[in-house]
Amino acid sequence: MTDKATLTIGDKSYDLPILKGSTGPDVVDVRKFYGDSDHFTFDPGFTSTASCESKITYIDGDAGILLHRGYPIGQLAEESSFLEVCHLLLNGELPTADEFTLFERNITYHTMLHAQFDTFFQGFRRDAHPMAVMTGAVGALSAFYSDSLNVDDPKQREISAHRLIAKMPTIAARAFQYSQGRPFVTPRNELSYSENFLRMCFSVPAEDWVPNPVLTRAMDRIFILHADHEQNASTSTVRLAGSSGAHPFACIAAGIACLWGPSHGGANQEALEMLEEIGTVENIPAYVQGVKDRKYKLMGFGHRVYKNFDPRAKVMQNTCYEVLEQLGINDPLLQVAMELEKVALSDQYFIDRKLYPNIDFYSGITLRAMGFPKEMFTVLFALARTVGWISQWKEMFEDPSRKIGRPRQLYTGATQRDYLAVEKRG
Ligand code: SDX
Repeated sequence: MTDKATLTIGDKSYDLPILKGSTGPDVVDVRKFYGDSDHFTFDPGFTSTASCESKITYIDGDAGILLHRGYPIGQLAEESSFLEVCHLLLNGELPTADEFTLFERNITYHTMLHAQFDTFFQGFRRDAHPMAVMTGAVGALSAFYSDSLNVDDPKQREISAHRLIAKMPTIAARAFQYSQGRPFVTPRNELSYSENFLRMCFSVPAEDWVPNPVLTRAMDRIFILHADHEQNASTSTVRLAGSSGAHPFACIAAGIACLWGPSHGGANQEALEMLEEIGTVENIPAYVQGVKDRKYKLMGFGHRVYKNFDPRAKVMQNTCYEVLEQLGINDPLLQVAMELEKVALSDQYFIDRKLYPNIDFYSGITLRAMGFPKEMFTVLFALARTVGWISQWKEMFEDPSRKIGRPRQLYTGATQRDYLAVEKRG
C-alpha cells in the first residue's frame, strides 16, 4: 500500500502524500503542489477532486451505496424518521430516546415565523415560482433572527441550525399557500414534523384538516431520501459560501439557488414535464431517439457519482406505488415512467453511459399525486436538504484547518497589452 504519489514534470519529480479514508477512494494531497511546482491541478466540474474531508455521508457510485454516518439509506428510510435522521446528520449519532425528545422539542418550538415575516411574502407576485420565494425568504431570515448570526459562537450555530430545520417547512408551506391564494396556516406543536408540514400546505379554514398517516409517512420518507448527498453542487455551494464566514442563513439561501438548476434539484420538475411531454407509452421510442440524437437529456436519469442504481430511486419508486394505491390514483404517467425506465435500461446508448434512474425520476409522480404542483417539487427537495447543508456547513466551520475556498484557473485570455485610445481602434 503506497503512501505517496510521484509526479514528474521535466527533470523534476514531486512527491505527493496519499491520504486514506475509512472507506472509499484514497486521495492524492496536492495542497503543496502549486507552491513546489508552480503548476495548478486542473479539474473543471471537480470530476476527480475531493474538496474536503467529511464524516457525514458516503456514496459508492459503482455499488449504488449511500450511507449517512454509516447507516444505509434503505434502512433509514424504512426504520427511522426524518427528525431522527436530522439528529444523526447534525450530531453524528442516532439519538437516545431522551436526546430525541429534547431535539424534537427544540425543532418544534422554532417552527413559527416572526409575525412580520409574513408580510415578506406579499412582495412577490402570486405567480412567482416558489423557489424564487424560498431563495429570497431564507436569505431574509437573518434580518429577523440577528441574535444567532455570530458563527463563532457554538450556541448560536446550533440555534441557527435548529431554526433553519424548523422554519423551512413553514416557509415552504407559505410559498405554496401564497401561490394558491389561500391563507397561511400556523404550525401546531402537537403534530409531527411531516404532519405539521402537510397540514400547513393543505388545510383550509373552511373545514377541519384530516391527516392521512400513509401520506405523512410517505412525506417523511421522501424528506429522508433527500436529506444529504455528500459534496453535490448545492452542498459545495454552501461550503464555499460558509468558508468566507458568511452566516448560515446566507449560505443556505445560496444552496437553494444552486439546487434550483435543472441539472440538479430542478430535475424533479423537469422529469415530470418530460413524462407529460411524452404522454403515452407509444411515444417513448421517438422520445428516446431524440435523447440519442442529443436533442435533450433524459431527465431523472444519470448521475455524476452513481454509475449504478441510485439507491434512493428504488425507495422512491416503492413510495410512489404506496401513495398512488392509498389515493386510488391510476396515473398513466407511472406506466410511461416504468416503460421508459425499462427501455432505457436495455438500450446500449444508456448502458454504455451507465445511465440509471436517479432520485428525481419517480418523485414527481408521487408529489403530484400528493397534491403538490410541479413548481413545488424543488422546494420540497430544498426543505429536506437543509439539514444536509447545515450539517456540512457545521462540519466545515468546525474544522480547525478551515480556509476560505479560493480556486485558481488555467488562463487563456489576452496577455498584457497597452490601452488604445478610441480613435486608434478599428
Ligand atoms: C441530483 O450530485 C448529486 O449528488 C446530486 C443529487 C443530490 O442528491 O444532491 O443526487 C441530486 O441532482 C440528481 C441528478 C438530477 N439531474 C438530472 O436528472 C438531469 C439529467 N441528468 C444529467 O444532466 C446528468 O446525468 C447529470 C448532470 C446528473 C450528471 O452529469 P455528468 O456526471 O456531468 O455526466 P455527463 O454530463 O458528463 O454525461 C456523461 C455522458 C454524456 O454523453 P457523452 O458526451 O459521453 O456521449 O452521459 C450523457 C452525456 O451526454 N448523459 C445523458 C444524461 N446524463 C448524462 N444523456 C441523456 N440523458 C441524461 N440524463
